[in-house]
Amino acid sequence: MPLAAPEFIRPAIRAMQGYQPGEQPQGQSSVIKLNTNESPYPPSPKVFEAINYVLTGDRLRKYPDPVGWEFRRAASKVLNVPAECIVIGNGSDEILSMAVRTLVPEGGVIVAPTPSYILYQSLAQIQGARFHELPFEKDWSLDANKLQGIGHLTFIPNPNSPTGTFIEPENLVNWPTPLVLDEAYVEFGEKNGLSLVQEHPHILVSRTFSKAYALAGIRFGFAVAHPSVAEQFYKVKDSYNCDVLSLAAATAAITDQAYLQEMKNKIIATRAVLSSALVELGFKVTPSHTNFVWCQHPDQFEKKIYEELKARNILVRYFHYANWGNGLRISVGTDAQIAQLLDELRMILKR
Ligand SMILES: Cc1ncc(COP(=O)(O)O)c(C=O)c1O
Repeated sequence: MPLAAPEFIRPAIRAMQGYQPGEQPQGQSSVIKLNTNESPYPPSPKVFEAINYVLTGDRLRKYPDPVGWEFRRAASKVLNVPAECIVIGNGSDEILSMAVRTLVPEGGVIVAPTPSYILYQSLAQIQGARFHELPFEKDWSLDANKLQGIGHLTFIPNPNSPTGTFIEPENLVNWPTPLVLDEAYVEFGEKNGLSLVQEHPHILVSRTFSKAYALAGIRFGFAVAHPSVAEQFYKVKDSYNCDVLSLAAATAAITDQAYLQEMKNKIIATRAVLSSALVELGFKVTPSHTNFVWCQHPDQFEKKIYEELKARNILVRYFHYANWGNGLRISVGTDAQIAQLLDELRMILKR
């Protein structure tokens, strides 16, 4: 039973449920974890070197660089954007939260597509803002005309979660509200929205190190924004939001693009195997631009499949969206993990 919230808690917080992240089983190494889109591979060896360097020096005693210049200079070279445009965050979730605090007044409106990342709704509730859902069109595009002028901020995950679909960034240039392109999974696709930021100050890009860079445990993300916008974000963020270890890890990881490419290629190859095997098992699979696959079964209950997999120590994510439907989001694991998942699915579905 949840405790009754004291009266002095803000009504908006009392009323909300709170975001429920995907399960993180503790101490059960036998679990095959395909539920929160972490990388199945370790981060670049350069990350371990960088962390060791920090640990053996005198860096833990002192505060980190509050604005992360070393990381920003490294990212600037790799991404070909000025370092002034980059804002560091404690995971990209913090970047999303900064965007809300910087752009959305209390009583304002936050827009996001359905189905998409559930955290956006929680961020709206925390801010005391209204959440407006904009359903995807049948071809996974979005029709901005349907907003009819409302909204102080729109979040578009691109590629989207949980569907893995992608919208050409050029098609979003004239979006009628400030727009955060949440590019948490962009490294697994072909294109991104970075080139839009310089010329369109109302467009921001958010990136994470939790997926392709295999650093979910370190908590690091960043925004790329027009310098006039980035400057405002720096007023809003916590003073020392990124610690010395995460800054060192992220700087080393972004510098090692060859390793990133190698891991990306492996994951994309396994994604193709997983997708076609799921089709053979009767699932409807949406073509993915990410490190996960979204699938729906026309004549089986996805929730039951999720539960049966869980009983066999395999975690995937089950989503149910009111007015939209159910499905399973399966992160791409190693080849061996995916082979085991498919064996279990064949038994569950008796194929
Ligand atoms: C669309 C999307 N955005 C942001 C995040 C958060 O990433 P981070 O670990 O950087 O906070 C996730 C994590 O699953 C995600 O799916």
